[in-house]
Amino acid sequence: MSIDCASLPRPPSAAPAPPSSFRGQFGNPTGWLGWVVGQAMAVKNASRSRFVLEQLDVSPAHDVLEIGFGPGADLARLSDRARSLSGVDHSASMVRMASRRVKRADLRIGSACALPFADASFDRVLSINSVQFWESLPLGLCEVRRVLKPGGLAVIAIQPRNIGATAQTTAEWGERLEQTFGAVGFDSIRRTLSTEAPVPTVAVAAHRP
Ligand SMILES: C[S@@+](CC[C@H](N)C(=O)[O-])C[C@H]1O[C@@H](n2cnc3c(N)ncnc32)[C@H](O)[C@@H]1O
Repeated sequence: MSIDCASLPRPPSAAPAPPSSFRGQFGNPTGWLGWVVGQAMAVKNASRSRFVLEQLDVSPAHDVLEIGFGPGADLARLSDRARSLSGVDHSASMVRMASRRVKRADLRIGSACALPFADASFDRVLSINSVQFWESLPLGLCEVRRVLKPGGLAVIAIQPRNIGATAQTTAEWGERLEQTFGAVGFDSIRRTLSTEAPVPTVAVAAHRP
């Protein structure tokens, strides 16, 4: 299967709807509850981050973008490893929180499906536990391809946390990510699992040709 990025319908550019439940806060942290959720995400996920950042293989010559950075803990972990750091998140609360944590990053409010960055801007793009909220996975990965420099590497990771998620849910996400990366024109696609509790994390790495 191959997907023509130019022919995909674009989602409306309106701000995302405010969350209507506590779980919804993870997809769009908002208000004081969003602040609490952001603080929790910042302290909870260190070992998952270590695993994902290993797959990203960042060097001091790299320009790096994170999509859905939440509280900015992973940008902070990358701060002395890359030449430049940028990020996009559709939650204004998370942009404020991350801006306090990471000083030298270009952090913008925006959508994974309409990245507010020029073509071929980055050597590395990462996203952790955000892709499940994107309006369209194919469109998001087309955008990742557009902003990557030729030869650049993307790593998209997910540890499914929805009610009832199991190792099978992780495996299905790995399959879906791998297929969609391939369909929008990435190559050298590699899937890696880590045995995080309560369910494994999958990281799918892919190169822009
Ligand atoms: C569960 S949090 C994960 C935060 C962080 N990556 C981590 O692992 O701790 C998901 C983040 O993705 C952001 N997000 C969800 N959908 C998005 C989209 N379509 N575009 C940009 N950001 C999005 C949310 O606002 C939130 O900050």
